[in-house]
Amino acid sequence: MRVFVTGASGWIGSAVVPELIGAGHQVVGLARSDASAVALVEAGAEVRRGTLDDLDTLRDTAAESDGVIHLAFKHDIAFSGGFEDAADADRLAIDTFGEALAGSDRPFVIASGTLGLAPGRVATEQDGQASSGPAGGHWGAGPLKRLANAHATAALADRGVRSSVVRLPPTVHGDGDHGFMATAVSIAREKGVSGYIGDGANRWPAVHRSDAAHLFRLALESAPAGSTLHAIADQGVPIRAVAEVIGRQLGLPVASVSPDDAAGHFTWLAAFLAMDSPVSSAYTRELLGWQPTGPGLLDDLDKGHYFAAPSV
Ligand SMILES: NC(=O)c1ccc[n+]([C@@H]2O[C@H](COP(=O)([O-])OP(=O)(O)OC[C@H]3O[C@@H](n4cnc5c(N)ncnc54)[C@H](OP(=O)(O)O)[C@@H]3O)[C@@H](O)[C@H]2O)c1
Repeated sequence: MRVFVTGASGWIGSAVVPELIGAGHQVVGLARSDASAVALVEAGAEVRRGTLDDLDTLRDTAAESDGVIHLAFKHDIAFSGGFEDAADADRLAIDTFGEALAGSDRPFVIASGTLGLAPGRVATEQDGQASSGPAGGHWGAGPLKRLANAHATAALADRGVRSSVVRLPPTVHGDGDHGFMATAVSIAREKGVSGYIGDGANRWPAVHRSDAAHLFRLALESAPAGSTLHAIADQGVPIRAVAEVIGRQLGLPVASVSPDDAAGHFTWLAAFLAMDSPVSSAYTRELLGWQPTGPGLLDDLDKGHYFAAPSV
């Protein structure tokens, strides 16, 4: 297939591109900068220059493609207080892809998240009511809008699009990760202690980047229209176990931080670190035959690549 990939130069996209090319697909990647364009060419992709706001480019490139994987998200503005604006831009892009692909039965795959789906119990692919999302607080209405974007994508099945939503856990780990795990490591280093909140029994799901990339390819190739998939390898790793590996790797003590002190200690990460969000992928594995083969989160942390000395 000729596949249009947005966010092709990002953390997950840069694993999805070789996964697709390795399976014989052609990739056209959206690039908003020279650096991203160069990275895509080096990965063997064709480049379409533009941003998420260039809706004509999105529409035309999708119309010329056999399928679309949409991974771009304005994390830069989302993490500086503009989550809602980022979710709005995401919706415009999704609606544009929906128009371009309507009636074609071609695949359209987007990335979404699992956090807050079913706090305190194991969430399945069938969970995901908009009202259960992590709304309000620091992130405003953005997370609920993102959930609504996932619902809008799944609903494109009714308009002749083979749409699917791949929900990712909060940690898609691997060598080069700059996300939540890398942040937890840098907070431990800065504080001189590897902390967890309360008893640390709360669980986080996780997946290695290579396994997530593989699932995006399977979704493109064969997910049924309107399906929701879980890229989950570790159903739920206790946060205390994560803190223990970080402490051992950095040679730091491991300690509980009281819930009252968590925001001061972990800043914005505290709200996430406190969540108990185990997630199952049994349905996804059964449906698509997806079988994660990469290291689990604790083994990956123990490989040491998260702990190279920080650059100054
Ligand atoms: N990583 C995770 O653990 C995780 C968890 C849950 C959900 N997700 C979702 O999975 C998707 C991929 O995440 P990721 O970790 O790969 O993100 P990432 O590393 O931040 O990559 C984001 C990609 O989007 C592109 N992008 C950002 N703003 C853009 C704009 N205005 N126009 C065009 N392209 C733009 C970036 O381009 P540049 O390369 O030019 O910056 C980059 O290619 C996102 O939707 C994310 O929210 C990720």
